[in-house]
Amino acid sequence: MSERVVLAYSGGLDTSVAIPYIAEQAGAEVIAVALDLGQGGEDLEAVRKRALGCGAVESIVVDAKEEFAAEYCVPALRANALYMDRYPLVSALSRPLIVKHLAAAARQFGGTAVSHGCTGKGNDQVRFEAGLAALSPDLKVIAPARDYAWTRDKAIAFAEDKGLPIDVTKKSPYSIDQNLWGRAVETGFLEDIWNGPIEDLYDYTADPAEPREADEVVITFAAGVPVALDGRPLTPYEVIAELNRRAGAQGVGRLDMVEDRLVGIKSREVYEAPAAIALIAAHMELENVTVERDLARFKRSVDQRWGELVYDGLWYSPLKNALDAFIDDAQRYVSGDVRLTLHGGRAVVTGRRSGASLYSYDLATYDTGDSFDQSLAKGFVELWSLPGKIAAARNREQG
Ligand code: ARG
Repeated sequence: MSERVVLAYSGGLDTSVAIPYIAEQAGAEVIAVALDLGQGGEDLEAVRKRALGCGAVESIVVDAKEEFAAEYCVPALRANALYMDRYPLVSALSRPLIVKHLAAAARQFGGTAVSHGCTGKGNDQVRFEAGLAALSPDLKVIAPARDYAWTRDKAIAFAEDKGLPIDVTKKSPYSIDQNLWGRAVETGFLEDIWNGPIEDLYDYTADPAEPREADEVVITFAAGVPVALDGRPLTPYEVIAELNRRAGAQGVGRLDMVEDRLVGIKSREVYEAPAAIALIAAHMELENVTVERDLARFKRSVDQRWGELVYDGLWYSPLKNALDAFIDDAQRYVSGDVRLTLHGGRAVVTGRRSGASLYSYDLATYDTGDSFDQSLAKGFVELWSLPGKIAAARNREQG
């Protein structure tokens, strides 16, 4: 029996061409695995059939939308995960889940190798292979775009030569990756970092500059998990999908940045992540209300580290697991409602309420009813200043 290779299949030109190419190079049978991660766009049944048309012996589509939302997007939200303070980890979140399903398909169909379409210049190759090393270290990796120096021209020539059922003229000038958590666009004219993004790049968001009426939404969280919109109970997938539509319609979540890749390259990226940006704004504010000060201060550094680990492909790592446990504990009281106004490309918090609030009106008020004993502050400030006062006196004395 010939070797069986499980391919992470997107339906696009590169992974379609990879099917006969791997079969030829490795003398192997190819099993195509596509995931529904809420990316929308093309009908996945058509994608499944295309893989068969390109010569795959098996082709499956896994509906992983709810799993992706609940087990990947929600943890990122609870960690307020923004790489370099901006990027909500769209692609970085999906790779570990894709790897998990590739490994499962390899078990199901007797695969001994896994293949992905990543080049050798990006983060995604690292995320695939580091994930695989943790989950299924016995599986070999075949990366045709990287290991056989594929170019776009070669791929097109190969597709035409083999008469593959794909429209090579449909190849976009950009490299695009999209899922429920957002959309990433790179390459093409964006590689000149002085070039401004054009409206054409965007798909999840409307032009924020266009005049329209604002939208207002109330997001309910239970222990850091979004569980309802405007009082309607929803699954995490449903919350994110609805917010992508509503925040997207207001142009929320567009980003244009130069980013530090793990492989050492700086790259220009344009993102749109309407639901992610709106949810993180709401979640951070609910943490402001419900998380005790020292815990909140410490969590900020945990959040940042969590985002870097996930960006760097270490989803299935001991440190990431341990930080998850910390975050889980820190989310215990992050329950309540946040009201957001979505408008002009921004998601702005306008109200918050929580049964677990640490905000005390009586302590905060400057009106009558104030229960804060200001006389205690005098001694506190004196002692607080004491070490600095002593050091400053010494410095003056010693010149
Ligand atoms: N730079 C982003 C990241 O590393 C986006 C990658 C998008 N991937 C792609 N194949 N276009 O997470």
